[in-house]
Amino acid sequence: AATTRYEAEASPAVCTGTIDSNWAGFSGSGFCNGDNGTSAYAQFTVNASAAGTATLKVRFANGTTSARAANIVVNGSTTGTASFEGTGAWDTWATKTLTVPLRSGSNTVRLSPTTSGGLPNIDYVDV
Ligand code: GCU
Ligand code: CA
Repeated sequence: AATTRYEAEASPAVCTGTIDSNWAGFSGSGFCNGDNGTSAYAQFTVNASAAGTATLKVRFANGTTSARAANIVVNGSTTGTASFEGTGAWDTWATKTLTVPLRSGSNTVRLSPTTSGGLPNIDYVDV
């Protein structure tokens, strides 16, 4: 099926931090620079035509040498985890593929960091 792109800077997405554009290579008009801490998050509202397992591709950059880990929280429940490895530079973007259970219709998918570094910079998710 065709994929839909949900930009981190586009409402109703939520970024606990700032929408920045200082690192090149992002899609749309910017990316989510989450605050460095475990309470910051990036949240997307994604649509599914039917309930089931969906593939989510998260575009991110992590210019540090430490992976940044996050819980994947779907409609308020943690359904998995992800580790966003260092990409070598803040303007080097990579894609992480996640599998998430979605219900039919609207779903919230939150990337909720579990370490004090917070999230990597998040550009978009393709679903
Ligand atoms: C740097 C970088 C930001 C990044 C931040 C971080 O400040 O410019 O884009 O979000 O590091 O460590 O999270
Ligand atoms: Ca940050």
